[in-house]
Amino acid sequence: MNPLNHVAIIMDGNGRWGLKYKNSRNAGHRAGLNTVEKIIKEAIHQKIEYLTLYAFSTENWKRPRKEIKYLFDLLENFLITKIDKLNDQNIKLKIIGIKNFSTKLNKLLNLAEKKTLKNTKLQINLALNYGSKAEIINALKKLKKNKKPINEKNLTKNLQTKDIPDPEILIRTGNTQRLSNFLLWQAAYSEIFFEKKLWPSFERRDFKKIIRKYKLIKRNFGSI
Ligand code: FPP
Repeated sequence: MNPLNHVAIIMDGNGRWGLKYKNSRNAGHRAGLNTVEKIIKEAIHQKIEYLTLYAFSTENWKRPRKEIKYLFDLLENFLITKIDKLNDQNIKLKIIGIKNFSTKLNKLLNLAEKKTLKNTKLQINLALNYGSKAEIINALKKLKKNKKPINEKNLTKNLQTKDIPDPEILIRTGNTQRLSNFLLWQAAYSEIFFEKKLWPSFERRDFKKIIRKYKLIKRNFGSI
């Protein structure tokens, strides 16, 4: 059976779920946060070491100001009310992406990362204001500045995901089949699962089903 260390998720479909069931996109984001909590529980149960969640892309700034504010308020509230619980569960929180939010949110994110830095059970990489192309370009710029040869190893070492193994599984919910500028380098050999359900409807049993399928795949990484 295939080993599993890292699952990455594009949590798509909050807006559609919210409009369909509550007549409000923001209600979908709120419900999406409940799914995040359920999936964290299952990740711990499955002894997964890294869970990367795409919460806000560099392209998401194109959304209406009100929706962006709602998402960041939700995140602030989550950090304020849940960080101690995550810490007690030995969970480490790491932000990937550019932290250029309000002073309050930047502070909360830095504090959450600092508080949980030494935790070892599960590392949650929260992708916020994240874009994979920008991440790769930044890594190349660093190599150029430090006069380092451009090769796979050096580039990998200069990504924000350095020290994190590549995801074996990448899941996208919401019945859309694209990567949306998420972990383009790191997902080169990921097994990709496109899930029809919208993120707020995604359950622990759906996650388990994907893991079961993954474990049985013959992975040959270009060999036969
Ligand atoms: C994509 O659905 C989802 C997002 C852009 C935000 C993800 C946020 C959460 C799951 C909840 C908040 C999480 C934290 C950690 C605070 P969409 O809005 O693009 O859905 P649509 O495709 O139906 O419009």
